[in-house]
Amino acid sequence: MTEQYTLTNLVQTKEVACSLLAKLVPGDVVVFEGNLGAGKTTFIQFMCHELGVEEYVNSPTFTIINEYLTGKYKVNHIDFYRLNSEEELREIGIEQYYNAQDLTFIEWGNKFPEMLPDKYYEIKISYINEVRELTIELLG
Ligand SMILES: Nc1ncnc2c1ncn2[C@@H]1O[C@H](COP(=O)(O)OP(=O)(O)OP(=O)(O)O)[C@@H](O)[C@H]1O
Ligand SMILES: [Mg+2]
Repeated sequence: MTEQYTLTNLVQTKEVACSLLAKLVPGDVVVFEGNLGAGKTTFIQFMCHELGVEEYVNSPTFTIINEYLTGKYKVNHIDFYRLNSEEELREIGIEQYYNAQDLTFIEWGNKFPEMLPDKYYEIKISYINEVRELTIELLG
């Protein structure tokens, strides 16, 4: 089943982010697909803020992975954008982030579909004329 939302402001994005977060269980992975500026990081910021992350959450474009400890979960925020090969993800040890305890959020995950876990939520965001269309689907 695919959930679909039309978003015209940040408050709506926050609501969708918090309602998805409420459904997540330890070990869940959420993969984001959408162009530059679509709002991937923004959605993740809202979930992290709700979890109590106090530091500023940005795209881990250069660090590749940011890790946040919260009361309830460890959050792994990964960005595939700058990576050139699956080999780089193997070197990082991507499998360690697909564990039974953490929440893992991946921006540009569709760049290396072979490197995604068997089961994950896929969020697609398209952005046209200040309106964002967002879909959420559980795959695998
Ligand atoms: N629902 C929304 N309504 C209004 N502005 C939004 C919304 N979602 C995101 N934005 C704004 O769009 C800009 C880009 O968002 P964001 O950084 O989350 O994009 P991104 O998809 O992570 O991009 P990148 O691929 O570069 O990492 C930000 O300034 C953010 O505030
Ligand atoms: Mg981003």
